[in-house]
Amino acid sequence: MTLWGGRFIKKQDKFFKEFNNSLKIDFILIKYDIQGSIAWSKILLDSKIITHEEQRKIETTLNLIFREVKNDPKKILLSDSEDIHSWVEKRLIYILGDIGKKIHTGRSRNDQVATDLKLWCKKAIITVQKKIINFQESLINLAEKNISSIISGYTHLQKAQPIIFSHWCLAYFEMLKRDFSRLKDCLQRLNVSPLGSGALAGTGWKINRKKLALYMGFSKSSNNSLDSVSDRDYIVELLSIASISMMHLSRFSEDLIFFNSGECNFIELSDAVTSGSSLMPQKKNPDSLELIRGKTGKVYGDLLNILVILKGLPLAYNKDMQEDKECLFSALKVWINCLKMSRIVILGIKLNSKICREASEKGYSNSTDLADYLVEKGVSFRDAHKISGKIVLYAIKNNKSLLQLTLKDFKKFCSIIDDNIYQNINLESCLNKRNSHGGTSQKQVLKSIVYAQKYVLRKRKEIKI
Ligand code: ARG
Repeated sequence: MTLWGGRFIKKQDKFFKEFNNSLKIDFILIKYDIQGSIAWSKILLDSKIITHEEQRKIETTLNLIFREVKNDPKKILLSDSEDIHSWVEKRLIYILGDIGKKIHTGRSRNDQVATDLKLWCKKAIITVQKKIINFQESLINLAEKNISSIISGYTHLQKAQPIIFSHWCLAYFEMLKRDFSRLKDCLQRLNVSPLGSGALAGTGWKINRKKLALYMGFSKSSNNSLDSVSDRDYIVELLSIASISMMHLSRFSEDLIFFNSGECNFIELSDAVTSGSSLMPQKKNPDSLELIRGKTGKVYGDLLNILVILKGLPLAYNKDMQEDKECLFSALKVWINCLKMSRIVILGIKLNSKICREASEKGYSNSTDLADYLVEKGVSFRDAHKISGKIVLYAIKNNKSLLQLTLKDFKKFCSIIDDNIYQNINLESCLNKRNSHGGTSQKQVLKSIVYAQKYVLRKRKEIKI
């Protein structure tokens, strides 16, 4: 039975009913629908629309309804209600009779669904923020453990310059920091209550909307009822942030897949996050990371989905908007799971420091430092670049690293090179020269680790975990 049957004579087409119902998707909003309804009952009391006794009964029954399904919300799906709002109201009326019929006074499902969704998003944002912090912490710990491990840094996937492995870890820490702060901005913007906007024009009852907003933990009430019931910007924003963050996670995954490849062998992933091949016994595949990379596409798709749903919709509420939930719920689930997975991968990672170092030495990633050395000796950078290039070519031909060349070899290309060349182009000196803010010297990286540790403590306090 629907809640709006009065105006209709014919029964709904069976297929349309199924097509129109959103309960199977929005039942997960139960907690927030109850929360919003309790707040609404309080404001109805404040405005003397219901009595103390009625409010008490409504609140107690709403809490009871929540308890009935708390442990198994899927029970809700046994009903044929149109959506979660109808389900809660019908259940309230079933238990309370006529008093239950008063809850929807002055309210519409349009402002109700907007409220429920915002409450859901607020909770989801905190959950994601917690996952981000946990992942960041695992990166910082790995950075701390590998402060002396040198790895080649890449551009164009060609060995470029040596970096400390910790520097790589902290690059992802920085990206996640931005994700966290985007979420904070989004939360602040969406923390505005739409309840009391009615179907589109506001409610006809004298209601203190500001007080109502505070009952639900919103910071204020919205300014325009038309906008409030049709605003889904926060979903677009949240899915944009999710997309950016998933892009970070997919790059993180790709880096590690590469480092883990047989060709690099820089890291070893734990057995716990890899799988084997049904045919080739030697294989240990980085599935966890490949899946993160693969699932990123889903989240991008969800962002596009919500943008296309909203494009060109006239004000105010349209049923198209019911389709906003699947993409929101799905993207957030994928995102949270990928953050969790990334952390687990990091916890089990083993760095093959010796191989990393050798690869870095072999890759001529100290060539820039050879050129800089010549500059210090008075050669112009352009000439120094050319001479260093020739030395590198010679070393490649002779299958040697730069450090393996003799002084005689060097002097063939430039007579001013003397034996302090070796201390200038060894990997440690290449690293430690890069000592300006944000560089890969051990000093800078140690500073960054201390900063990152303090940041995590601050954020934990901020979101109370
Ligand atoms: N199930 C609907 C949704 O999710 C709730 C709002 C329905 N409003 C309406 N006027 N039919 O969007």
